Amino acid sequence: MCHSDLIENMDKKSTWDRFYTENGRRAPTFKNFEWFFGFESIRHVLLPLLPPEPCPHRVFQILDIGCGTSALGPCIYKHSPTAVQVTCADISPIAVRLMQENISSKPIHPNSVSSLLRFVEMDCTQLLSHYSPNSIDLIVDKGTTDALLRSKEGKGKASQMLKQCMTVLRESGALLQFSDEDPDSRLLWLETEAQEQGVVGNVVTQEVGELRGVVYYCYQVSPTVHS
Ligand SMILES: C[S@@+](CC[C@H](N)C(=O)[O-])C[C@H]1O[C@@H](n2cnc3c(N)ncnc32)[C@H](O)[C@@H]1O
Repeated sequence: MCHSDLIENMDKKSTWDRFYTENGRRAPTFKNFEWFFGFESIRHVLLPLLPPEPCPHRVFQILDIGCGTSALGPCIYKHSPTAVQVTCADISPIAVRLMQENISSKPIHPNSVSSLLRFVEMDCTQLLSHYSPNSIDLIVDKGTTDALLRSKEGKGKASQMLKQCMTVLRESGALLQFSDEDPDSRLLWLETEAQEQGVVGNVVTQEVGELRGVVYYCYQVSPTVHS
């Protein structure tokens, strides 16, 4: 697959099935593939958002949308100080199967025995077919919105995914978009979506760091709070 084909079609399941099949063939043993960077580069952003103390009667719900074969979800599961249920979701069944096989052969031991980790094939523009409104505490998105926004026919899907994220999040919850998109463009897109969809509340931008000359950001998006 040539580079421009990949970019233009990053909203398509078939593109990613091919991508993860080829990646899997190249390496003799499974290796996580990380878009942009791995967990260590963003642990300082993520870990403070997890509850430091156990929440009685409730497990903190985390969803990684478009997880690919990244170790982000498994690392959150491993390092969370308290019980979490981490769902790593991707539209590519190839990526999901590779992750399931890897975790079965190399189990991870979390800090809390109540923690759960699962990998699920899911179209994240259809989150409401899988989750109730107001049910998720934290959604992480490393490169998935970027992939949809950059592809030829993906902009509508990015808007739909954002709207569904805002609906399934608890009012106290947040969506973290890790991206290399400049704040001028991403904040304009989020502001337009906020006006058109009315579900986006607040957006906080944080520079995550610079890698190989590229600056990366975290856009922390909160849902609208209904009084
Ligand atoms: C740029 S990659 C990022 C992968 C991973 N988050 C990482 O950091 O390595 C985008 C991912 O989004 C997935 N994807 C694209 N459209 C999707 C959709 N509608 N629902 C769920 N996943 C999707 C792709 O299969 C791919 O794994």
